[in-house]
Amino acid sequence: MSRAALDKDPRDVASMFDGVARRYDVTNTVLSLGRDRHWRQATRAALQVRSGHKVLDLAAGTAVSTVELQKSGAWCVATDFSVGMLAAGAARQVPKVAGDATKLPFADEVFDAVTISFGLRNVADQQAALREMARVTRPGGRLVVCEFSTPTSRLFATAYKEYLMQALPRMAEAVSSNPEAYVYLAESIRAWPDQATLAHEISRAGWAAVRWRNLTGGIVALHAGYKPLR
Ligand SMILES: C[S@@+](CC[C@H](N)C(=O)[O-])C[C@H]1O[C@@H](n2cnc3c(N)ncnc32)[C@H](O)[C@@H]1O
Repeated sequence: MSRAALDKDPRDVASMFDGVARRYDVTNTVLSLGRDRHWRQATRAALQVRSGHKVLDLAAGTAVSTVELQKSGAWCVATDFSVGMLAAGAARQVPKVAGDATKLPFADEVFDAVTISFGLRNVADQQAALREMARVTRPGGRLVVCEFSTPTSRLFATAYKEYLMQALPRMAEAVSSNPEAYVYLAESIRAWPDQATLAHEISRAGWAAVRWRNLTGGIVALHAGYKPLR
C-alpha cells in the first residue's frame, strides 16, 4: 500500500508510513521549507514539562518530535504503530514502544503530559485516541496537539491551497521514498477541521480549558488542554 485513503484504514496508514520512513525527516524539512523545527520547539514550550515529568509522544514516527521534547529534561517515550517509522529513528536515544493510539499499551494516569504532532489527523477514530490520551494522563496533566490547520488570512489560504495541491506533490516526487503518500498528506490537510472545530472535539473527549495558538499564519495550530482534577 503506497498511500492511505481518507477513511484512514489503520493497516493502510501504518503501511503508508512504513513506506515513507526512510526519507521522512528530510522530506518534512524540505516540504515545510524548514519550519518543522520551529513547530517542534513551540510544541515543547507549550507542553510546559521539565525534569521529573513523564511524557508520552504519541504517533512519534521516527522520534524526531520526541528528541525535541527530551530537551526539556523530562523523560519521554515515543509510541507509534508504524514499526518502520520507529526503526528509521533507531539511532535516536529515546525509549520507543510500538502501539496503537486508540488502544494504548500503558496503565491509567501514568503520564504528566501527552502530545501528538502531525499524528491525530492520521488516526481513524480521533475521539478514541483523545480519550485514550486522557486515560493515561494524570489528573491536572497537560495535552498538546500539534497539527496542520486553517490559515487565518484568506489570501494566504488561497496561496497555501495551491502549494498543497500543486507544488507539494511535485517536491515530494523529488525527495520522498513514497511520493504517493504526499498526495494523501495534501488531501488530509484540506479535509481537516479548523481550529475552533478541533478545540470542540478535544473538549468533547474530556479535556478541559482547551485553547489554541496559531503558528506560521495558521498553517499549524497548537491546541492545549488539561485533564480535569477529580
Ligand atoms: C506525520 S507522522 C508524525 C511523526 C512525528 N510525530 C513528527 O512530528 O514528525 C504521523 C505518524 O502517526 C502514526 N499513526 C497514525 N495513526 C496511528 C495510530 N492509530 N496509532 C499510532 N500511530 C499512528 C503514523 O504511523 C506516523 O508515524
